[in-house]
Amino acid sequence: MFAPPSRCLLHSRTTASPVIDAPVIDQPLPLASGLLGTTAGRRLRVGVIGARGYVGAELLRILWRHPQLTLAFVSSRQLAGAPLSEVLPEATDAGVTIESLEPEEAASRGVDALFLALPNGHAEPYVAAVDRACPDALVVDLSADHRFTATFAYGLPEHHRARLIGARRIANPGCYATCAQLALEPLRELLRGPPSIFGVSGYSGAGTAPSPRNDVAALADNLIPYALAGHLHEREISHHLGHAVRFMPHVAPFFRGISLTIDCELSSAHDASALARRFADRYANEPLVTVSEAPPLVRDAVGRHGVQLGGITTLGTRAVVVATLDNLLKGAATQAVQNLNVAFGLPEFAAIS
Ligand SMILES: NC(=O)c1ccc[n+]([C@@H]2O[C@H](COP(=O)([O-])OP(=O)(O)OC[C@H]3O[C@@H](n4cnc5c(N)ncnc54)[C@H](OP(=O)(O)O)[C@@H]3O)[C@@H](O)[C@H]2O)c1
Repeated sequence: MFAPPSRCLLHSRTTASPVIDAPVIDQPLPLASGLLGTTAGRRLRVGVIGARGYVGAELLRILWRHPQLTLAFVSSRQLAGAPLSEVLPEATDAGVTIESLEPEEAASRGVDALFLALPNGHAEPYVAAVDRACPDALVVDLSADHRFTATFAYGLPEHHRARLIGARRIANPGCYATCAQLALEPLRELLRGPPSIFGVSGYSGAGTAPSPRNDVAALADNLIPYALAGHLHEREISHHLGHAVRFMPHVAPFFRGISLTIDCELSSAHDASALARRFADRYANEPLVTVSEAPPLVRDAVGRHGVQLGGITTLGTRAVVVATLDNLLKGAATQAVQNLNVAFGLPEFAAIS
């Protein structure tokens, strides 16, 4: 599955994309100069920075089975020198060693796509290095660093697919933000006032660096509320949905999975079956979105690639919907690969099954 590094600048482009940190989403995004950037008959070469993390490990699992991609390099500072099987047990015989790559070195390896699975605040040096060395390479940033950046396409394919085709800078949405937007968009034109989103996440959402939100002892038999107004995902959901929301996150003692219970005030009364039909029609052609009558359960979301919506309940002008997903899959790694597939014109669900 691994190929030796090849030369960079596989596609010609003369200017690097300026990075404008402004909340403007309706302007043209930089696209690759070639036909979606793919090269007929050749596997695309991808690199992963942040392979030791929860998200990086899931990403590698999906990329490993992708029929049209080759892993060119895998980077982690702490695991440098270890075999790839340290994070990807099925890669026992790959003969590949994890490296610790600085931005310039990663950008010089000539990959077609670079996944950044780093903590928030660390993506920019890698993006700048790719802008300089191989601007037509695709960057998928899984952190929150570019979710409000005009030159990055926001990678929620079910809502913004057209803008992702041919994109070369993609900001992968947050896990809560993915779940909430998929649940709220079918109701958006009916909403009166900001919906309240009660969110519960497994502690893998807090990453591997020790913190009060992944402290297993503190979480035992417990539920910990945090950032109850103004959480980053509150801003992200409001911005990309185009409608203000209120979001109250909590962390639970289970490892992975997210459950959102969303309470909305509508501009007029609707019965639950009409709203359920609205959801079913909206997502009829979206394989990663399931609509059920019963409220979905977080334990059923674990290990699944998609989002489950259900439990749609109304009382007069009030509507409640429940949404679940696996924060490490559709909330991160699955969506990142889905975005790459759309950007390069590959089958959208390749390696996602
Ligand atoms: N966890 C989730 O549910 C989730 C969901 C959606 C999005 N995200 C986002 O995805 C990103 C990764 O999340 P995660 O949960 O996988 O985090 P994580 O478990 O803490 O992993 C972070 C990774 O980045 C590397 N790293 C840390 N600091 C670095 C630095 N200064 N320079 C280079 N590498 C560094 C770490 O490996 P080394 O220290 O070995 O280099 C590790 O591989 C975050 O931005 C997060 O917000 C996470």
